[in-house]
Amino acid sequence: MTQKLYIQTNGCQMNEYDSDKMRDVLKASHGLEITQNPEDADVLLLNTCSIREKAQEKVFSAVGRWKKIKDKRPDIIIGVGGCVASQEGEAIQKRAPYVDIVFGPQTLHRLPELLNQARRGKQKVVDISFPEIEKFDSLPEPRAEGPKAFVSVMEGCSKYCTYCVVPYTRGEEISRPLNDVIAEIESLAQQGVREINLLGQNVNAYRGEMDDGDIASFSLLLHYVAAVDGIDRIRFTTSHPLEFTDDIIEAYTEIPQLVSHLHLPVQSGSNRILSAMKRGHTREDYLQIMEKIKQARPGISLSSDFIIGFPGETDEEFEDTMRLIEEVGFDFSYSFIFSPRPGTPAAEFEDAIPMDVKKQRLERLQTRLTEMTQAISKSMIGTVQTVLVEGVSRKNPLHMTGRTENNRAVNFAAHPRLAGQFVDVLITEALPNSLRGRLVESSVEKIVQTA
Ligand code: SAH
Ligand code: SF4
Ligand code: F3S
Repeated sequence: MTQKLYIQTNGCQMNEYDSDKMRDVLKASHGLEITQNPEDADVLLLNTCSIREKAQEKVFSAVGRWKKIKDKRPDIIIGVGGCVASQEGEAIQKRAPYVDIVFGPQTLHRLPELLNQARRGKQKVVDISFPEIEKFDSLPEPRAEGPKAFVSVMEGCSKYCTYCVVPYTRGEEISRPLNDVIAEIESLAQQGVREINLLGQNVNAYRGEMDDGDIASFSLLLHYVAAVDGIDRIRFTTSHPLEFTDDIIEAYTEIPQLVSHLHLPVQSGSNRILSAMKRGHTREDYLQIMEKIKQARPGISLSSDFIIGFPGETDEEFEDTMRLIEEVGFDFSYSFIFSPRPGTPAAEFEDAIPMDVKKQRLERLQTRLTEMTQAISKSMIGTVQTVLVEGVSRKNPLHMTGRTENNRAVNFAAHPRLAGQFVDVLITEALPNSLRGRLVESSVEKIVQTA
C-alpha cells in the first residue's frame, strides 16, 4: 500500500516553497503521497518558523498531538524541519524524544536518506548543516499546480538586523545560478504557469553566477524571467531598501510583466529606531526610493512590514512611523509587536515600554493601514483590471476567482475554461477582503482568437 506523508507548514513563503520540495523529494524517493489527515500518515513533517514567539510555541504543541498518533502506531516517523529546527537542533529531541528526524531549511533534500536512517536504526537523526546551494541540485523537476508558482532565487540573509533570527536559521545570503533559476521557470511555463513569484529573504541581493563566470544582478534576472515564453506576470518577495538600486527601479519602466505592486518593508519611520535595528538605511532613503518608484510606475501599490514597540521606541518615534505611512500611502501591509528572539542583539536591549502601550500603538497603526487599504479598494470600483484566473470561487460554483496586479482577490461570473488565463474584469464592488467584478467579454475573445 502507498505510504502517506503529512506536512504542516508554518512561517513564510520560503517555508511554503520548501514544503512543496519536501513533498517532491519524498515522492520521488519513497513514493510517499500527500494526505491531509495526520491520522493516516506514515511520515509526519512539521516545517517550523521562529520569527516571533507565537510561531515557536506552535512547535511543541503540534508534535505533542502527533505523539498520540505515534503511541498507537509506533512505526510512524515524525520529523521537524525549518527555522526552529535550525536554531534548536538536538534540543528538540531532548524535549520531545519521539521526534525521529531534525533537519534544516538547507538539508531538506537529504530527507530520503534521513528517513532511511531513522527507519533502519530508529536512532535520532539530526542534520541542520548549511551545505549551501547543494539543495537545489538534488531536487526533482518542479511540478506546476495552477497558473502561479514560486521560485526560490536566493537563500538566507546577511543583513543581521538586530531583532531577527533569519541569518542564524537560514545562513548567509547565497544565490542560485542564473541558468538554474531560468530552467526551473521555463519548465513551469511549459506546464502552464503564467505568474512567477521570485522568492528570497532579500531577493534584490541576488548575485547569480552566469555561465561565462559573470554575476547577474537582480534587475538582469528580472529581464531574463520576463523573456521566458508564457510568463506574463512577475512578483518578488521580499526585497530590502538597502539594495533597491536604480536599475531595479528602471526595470519598472522597462518590464511590463513586473506587477504594479511592491512590498518593500521599512519596519519603522524613525531614524533612531532604524539605526538601532541596524537596517542600514534612513527614513529619507526609503522615501526617496518610494518617490522614484511612483514616478517609474504611476499608480503602483506599495506595502510594507512594520515592527511596533521596538526597545526604547518613544511616543514621538512611533509618530514618525505614523507620519511615514501618510507620506507614502500604503496598501495592505503587515505589522507586528516586537518579539525578543533569543540569540539576537535586540533581545538584550533595555525595553521599558509597557505591553499595553505597544498594543495601543499597533492598533492605531493597523486601523490607519486598513483605512488606506480600503480606500484603494474603493478607488478600483469602475476600473478595468487585468486578472489572472485561478479557478472556481469557493463561495459560488458559477463564479471564477483570480487576482489583480495589486494582489486583490476578484470574484466574477465566468466559464471555468478561463482558468489559467488573463482576462479583463470591470470592478463593481469592494468588500473588506475581496472585490467583485464583471468579465469584459472582449478580453476573452482575444484569448480565444490567439489560442
Ligand atoms: N527579509 C525581510 C523580512 C523577513 S521577516 C525584510 O528584511 O524585510 C518578516 C517580517 O517579520 C519582518 O519584515 C519584520 O517586520 C517581522 N519580524 C522579524 N523579526 C521580528 C521580531 N523579532 N519581532 C517582531 N517582528 C519581527
Ligand atoms: Fe531579518 Fe533583516 Fe534579514 Fe530581513 S533583512 S531577514 S529582517 S535580518
Ligand atoms: Fe519564519 Fe524562517 Fe521564514 S523564521 S519567517 S520560516 S525564514
